[in-house]
Amino acid sequence: MPALVLLGAQWGDEGKGKATDLLGGSVDYVVRYQGGNNAGHTVVVGDQKYALHLLPSGILTPECTPVIGNGVVVDPSVLFSELNGLNERGVDTSKLLISGNAHIITPYNVTVDKVTERFLGKRKIGTTGRGIGPTYADKINRVGIRIQDLYDESILTQKVEAALEVKNQLLTKLYNRRAIEAGQVVEELLGYADRLKPYVADTVLILNQALEQDKVVLFEGGQGTLLDIDHGTYPFVTSSNPTAGGACTGSGVGPTKISRVIGILKAYTTRVGSGPFPTELLDEDGEALRRIGGERGVTTGRDRRCGWFDAVIARYATRVNGLTDFFLTKLDVLTGWEEIPVCVAYEIDGKRVEELPYSQTDFHHAKPIYENLPGWSEDITKAKSFSDLPKNAQAYVKALEDMSGAQISAIGVGPGRDETIEINSFI
Ligand code: GDP
Ligand code: IMO
Ligand code: MG
Repeated sequence: MPALVLLGAQWGDEGKGKATDLLGGSVDYVVRYQGGNNAGHTVVVGDQKYALHLLPSGILTPECTPVIGNGVVVDPSVLFSELNGLNERGVDTSKLLISGNAHIITPYNVTVDKVTERFLGKRKIGTTGRGIGPTYADKINRVGIRIQDLYDESILTQKVEAALEVKNQLLTKLYNRRAIEAGQVVEELLGYADRLKPYVADTVLILNQALEQDKVVLFEGGQGTLLDIDHGTYPFVTSSNPTAGGACTGSGVGPTKISRVIGILKAYTTRVGSGPFPTELLDEDGEALRRIGGERGVTTGRDRRCGWFDAVIARYATRVNGLTDFFLTKLDVLTGWEEIPVCVAYEIDGKRVEELPYSQTDFHHAKPIYENLPGWSEDITKAKSFSDLPKNAQAYVKALEDMSGAQISAIGVGPGRDETIEINSFI
């Protein structure tokens, strides 16, 4: 069973970095397939804490080859500062591979992201401001710049000029900003070419050959199912496909090679940025989840919106990703509540609805229907097996499993690598 996908089952920040790092020791390749440095994946190894944005979490495991696939958007300045930061801490990053087909986040894409959000005002998406949406827009509009373009100055210049022709009209005439000079952009991009060169590779060929040799490949999703451009809460989404299908298009590995799809699922729910969130808590319980769970964005430092677990969303994630397993994270954060409400269905315009409505208007009107599950007060952070958990914590996990449609194969009881209960092995 060589290829596994690990992805966010909610609105991101479920603990994908920790889960990827945990499996890193048993896999040969860890591949990011979409998104860019809008991600913030935290990995805690012993007393060391790492925040990864663009690099796959497998970079912290020496035996593992980290890969940035064709579906990722790469900001070279961020890439180098992340690599430098890791090198300074003694992490060897020399095995990194980057697809020559991955698109580059140019300085003008970052500018357009920021001015567009400002222009939208109250209707803003609450993006991370990292240029993600505009870069994917350029890719789809066929005016994007790819990593391989850095190695042909004449093509690069033509492409940057073409992209800026329209953007400068927008920037100067609509947004009242200064025009961006193509020559300067080309010069900056060419400045990255030499240092990038050793990493650039035919990652499609390498990954498929590795799978033929029965090597284990792990795809690490950024963001989450409900932030997916097709399957998420559009328009309050990111501009890529974090869902399982994205692992194929974003890497060039076919779906027949994928044997497990693991959804990372927080024991409650969080969201950053704008958009509907039926179980959001604007009271002291929400404040307590944020405080105890340390729910502050790794990328933008924004407070995360917090709420109870939503089983409707978990079922939806199982369906659109074909999940085989869940990795339930942050169960320890729920310790101390006498009762824990879990959303089992929605009420929409007076009707009980069991599944996620496809209509945005309906979803905006969805009110959670809660079932209260008994809580526990014992410290669970030292639990090593399912039977070490208090009875009520076991019942909470079982109830979530029954409602969510896939087996829970691991449980996080703390941020560290070893603060995990493994139930079914993934590899
Ligand atoms: P990602 O974007 O999905 O990788 O998740 P983030 O790193 O943005 O946010 C998850 C946060 O929860 C990080 O601070 C992790 O260190 C932390 N974390 C992960 N799993 C657990 C867990 O089981 N318990 C606790 N208490 N923290 C966890
Ligand atoms: P990880 O991988 C949580 C959210 C932003 C915004 C929307 C669009 O750490 O789970 P974008 O900059 O992507 O155009 O912003 O998506 N968002 C995330 N929320 N975790 C993330 O990544 C996110 N990446 C983007 O807050 O609402
Ligand atoms: Mg995150």
